[in-house]
Amino acid sequence: MKVGVIGAGTMGQGIAKAFAQVEGYTVALCDIKQEWAENGKAKIEKGYARLVSKGKLTQEKVDAILASIEPGLKENLCADCDLIVEAAFENMEVKQNTFRELDAICKEGCIFASNTSSLSITEIGKGVNRPVVGMHFFNPADRMKLIEVIAGVNTPAEVVERIKEISVEIGKSPVQVNEAAGFVVNRILIPMINEAAFIKMEGVSNIAGIDTAMKLGANHPMGPLELGDYIGLDICLAIMDVLYKETGDSKYRACPLIRKMVRGGNLGVKSGKGFYVYN
Ligand code: CAA
Repeated sequence: MKVGVIGAGTMGQGIAKAFAQVEGYTVALCDIKQEWAENGKAKIEKGYARLVSKGKLTQEKVDAILASIEPGLKENLCADCDLIVEAAFENMEVKQNTFRELDAICKEGCIFASNTSSLSITEIGKGVNRPVVGMHFFNPADRMKLIEVIAGVNTPAEVVERIKEISVEIGKSPVQVNEAAGFVVNRILIPMINEAAFIKMEGVSNIAGIDTAMKLGANHPMGPLELGDYIGLDICLAIMDVLYKETGDSKYRACPLIRKMVRGGNLGVKSGKGFYVYN
């Protein structure tokens, strides 16, 4: 099966790995510039090189995985794809335009899935001549077991079922959710990260204290501020804003500290600085 992954950023790279690690799957890793797609593949290569040097994977296995990921433009690589997983910028217009363009490129029968973390699947599919379904991976997408499978208003049951089957084929556990802002995980997780930022802003504890408290007191693998940096504070902010806009409920107000950090370009791991500093 050939999968077109649209967007070669953090999530796109992880999703490409999640498919390419499984025999029988090849991946077209696409971005709007050839160079960006190639950069995405280069980052994947770098990550695997680390695992080889630690003795976690053989070079042979890594070579096989890398050989099944081709970077490039969707116009050149997606015509024969069987499945598209869109992981482009988290913006409605960008996603709608991407699928409308793919509609003209992809063969009949190709399934359109979006990795959106909070936007409406129904709205993403507007003006697209085939159904769109949600296939929401979690970062790091090659390690995390869950896939939220989201049915939009117009998504046929058989498309939802097919995505669930594919999820199992690549070793994941699908959970079907109905369309709602933030679905299940982000509706719970991102307000928690947002609350941690309020706690920091109010001076209740410091960054390390908040993270240690949640790691040792709630057995979370990462503290909420560390996790916010890892997800990307821009993504966390965008999700809070969607939750607030869709519900009008003030409990979803974004923490001003996160908004300020995003405005200042302090997005977390990907920008080198967030709550923590990264090299
Ligand atoms: N093959 C073989 N070995 C591998 C491997 C692979 N493909 N990948 C990693 N390994 C190795 C690692 O080298 C590591 O070995 P060492 O311990 O000897 O160094 C070992 O396997 C464990 O690696 P992990 O990557 O699993 O590392 P970890 O146990 O420290 O876990 C983590 C890292 C999975 C990120 C964990 O900290 C975690 O679960 N954090 C929370 C993540 C989370 O909540 N994600 C959801 C974010 S929300 C989201 O994504 C949705 C959204 O829309 C915003």
